[in-house]
Amino acid sequence: MAEIPIIWILGGPGCGKGTQCAKIVEKYGFTHLSSGDLLRNEVASGSDKGRQLQAVMSSGGLVSNEEVLSLLNDAVNRAKGGSKGFLIDGYPREKTQGVAFEERIGPADLALYFDCSEDTMLKRILARAAAAAVKRSDDNEETIRARLQTFKQNTSAILELYADKTLTINAERDVDDIFQEVVQAIDCVLKKKAKIAAHC
Ligand code: AP5
Ligand code: MG
Repeated sequence: MAEIPIIWILGGPGCGKGTQCAKIVEKYGFTHLSSGDLLRNEVASGSDKGRQLQAVMSSGGLVSNEEVLSLLNDAVNRAKGGSKGFLIDGYPREKTQGVAFEERIGPADLALYFDCSEDTMLKRILARAAAAAVKRSDDNEETIRARLQTFKQNTSAILELYADKTLTINAERDVDDIFQEVVQAIDCVLKKKAKIAAHC
């Protein structure tokens, strides 16, 4: 694991985590693991556990880390043989999640934090919901506001703890402008991993 990059993708609901991850996958062929998608897969399975997860997700709160980390750990183990790198999207959402991840899976090389105003995030999710053939059950205004609140409560502690490996990116811009900055940061991590640049 130490030779391939692990990148945490942080930011509030609707800031563009999934959008940027899709572009990173296209360019670098990394493995994209979204904690939200893994949880939604579990919900879709119709299991009892899925029903409990659904209740928490519909409230805009956080699922227990035991559940999320175990889903992530399984997914990393399934993919790690052939993976060029991991994008861990939507994790950590609490600083204790970051600590548990690094103990169980491995150290993150970089955290990209997409900084966006609440107003923009709300508008983006409402637009996504309006355009979707199948709307996410948490993409309604009441739950979005609760998700924003959960995000606000936890994020500064994560940014403080991981300040030395976090790049904050202004996510209020065009998707491609944001991506240019993402590319610079990832290229730098790849160079450091390959030990071909002392500084970037
Ligand atoms: P999760 O699925 O991660 O949802 P989220 O964090 O609320 O974020 P979204 O997926 O809604 O938005 P995004 O940032 O990916 O934006 P996107 O690219 O889609 O989590 C859901 C729930 O699962 C949580 O609330 C929680 O309950 C649970 N959960 C997940 N992780 C957990 C964890 N670690 N611990 C505990 N519980 C956890 O973009 C949004 C829209 O904007 C799109 O339409 C897109 O086209 C558009 N857009 C994107 N970028 C731009 C741009 N630059 N300009 C204009 N439009 C843009
Ligand atoms: Mg997403």
